[in-house]
Amino acid sequence: MQSGAFQKCIDPTCGLEYPITDIRIECERGHLLDVKYGNNPSPSLKETFYKRRNHANNIFNESGVWRFRELLNFCQIDTENIDECSKYLVSLDGAEGRLSKPYHMSKVSDYVGVQNMWLQPEGYNPSGSFKDNGMTTAVTHAKLVKIKKIICASTGNTSASAAMYAANENMECDVYIPAGEVAPGKLSQAFQFGAQVIEIKGNFDDALSASLKQAGEVGGYTVNSVNPFRIEGQKTIVFRALESLDWDAPDWIVYPGGALGNTSSCGKSLMELYEWGWIKKIPRIAVINSEGANTLHTLYNGKFEKTSLRWNKGKPDTDLIKRYYDFMDEKGMRPKTKATAIQIAKPANILKGLRALEFTNGIVSQVSDSEMLDGMALVGLNGFDCEMASGAVPAGIKKLMQEEIIKKDDTVIGILTGRQKDSSIPVDYHKNPQNKFANPPRS
Ligand code: F0G
Repeated sequence: MQSGAFQKCIDPTCGLEYPITDIRIECERGHLLDVKYGNNPSPSLKETFYKRRNHANNIFNESGVWRFRELLNFCQIDTENIDECSKYLVSLDGAEGRLSKPYHMSKVSDYVGVQNMWLQPEGYNPSGSFKDNGMTTAVTHAKLVKIKKIICASTGNTSASAAMYAANENMECDVYIPAGEVAPGKLSQAFQFGAQVIEIKGNFDDALSASLKQAGEVGGYTVNSVNPFRIEGQKTIVFRALESLDWDAPDWIVYPGGALGNTSSCGKSLMELYEWGWIKKIPRIAVINSEGANTLHTLYNGKFEKTSLRWNKGKPDTDLIKRYYDFMDEKGMRPKTKATAIQIAKPANILKGLRALEFTNGIVSQVSDSEMLDGMALVGLNGFDCEMASGAVPAGIKKLMQEEIIKKDDTVIGILTGRQKDSSIPVDYHKNPQNKFANPPRS
């Protein structure tokens, strides 16, 4: 057993600490938590991680998450013994993260005008999105503290992933979804994996409030990305990207922005790797919002009250966030985008997201629905599948390139967060000859 892992409040002026076995998602003053480690992992592990790709049927080496287990060792395991690992670590038989690595997609590169660009499809995870990276670790924590039922709110992918791991671990799972706003393929996964679906009138933000309220009342275990153990698993998206570049950090890492769990986990992984001396350069994070759900873009870029919201070394202007949320409520402003995965107006991880953006000198942009659809279609024309929200990544890179923020010689990694689960979207796209990359059917 290694020792030294604990949980700590992210607010530097608060800094309350809790043991790993605590299942709260906030400190008692209402701030989000981080998982912290007492050790400084040696860079020689880079070779160990690489060797584990030749996994010899050890599922914890096969898993693209647990292959990096020393960097998320909150269970404090200090053994290579597979039976011993199985007592703690949850895996869908080694499938999570196994197929994920960055690929060069030449048609996308030509379109956006950046040649040193790699796109990492996280849609090839077992439940079809990046969520499995963090769900495998959150459910590992749930198992550690002997939880029998997990609970989440979702725009679809989180619920699919939570339901899948719950089914495999014999846990119950309640999923709160905004009624009528979830892609059919995602909803069908929740049913198929035996979850209890609870439909909420409203949007994702309403579903999240309802699920957190319920979890609070019954002491339920929340597996949304406000759970710090989710963030730990999602760090491996960055590890796999960096490993493919020989740990030579790129100039940019680009994500679509929703609840900002990805942004938060990317920031945490880079903070840790930099602190441990594993990387010398800090890549810049670019978050791409949908124009119809652009709270971060609005606040970060000073488009509300002419004030640019920043982490500000741990003293963010949280009143500004509150005023903007009240303003949206008063005006009846609801998030609206065809990319329902990121149809979110109140990103639950906004503070961790701001911390990540400050550490990486990040930026926030936004793209339209039609730009996302073109991005999605173009990824398809390279033989890779992604959903509309992921199309924000090539679309955002193109826009930032045109604005000369991303330079044509920069090295860029873009994360394609999910696989297509609403077949009507590409079918409708291609049937309409007005669309840029449409390939309409002939009769
Ligand atoms: N892309 C896809 C495909 C998603 O499903 C999500 C979030 C995001 C991007 C946004 O990521 O929240 O880390 O900024 N989906 C959540 C869900 C909200 O419930 O499945 P984020």
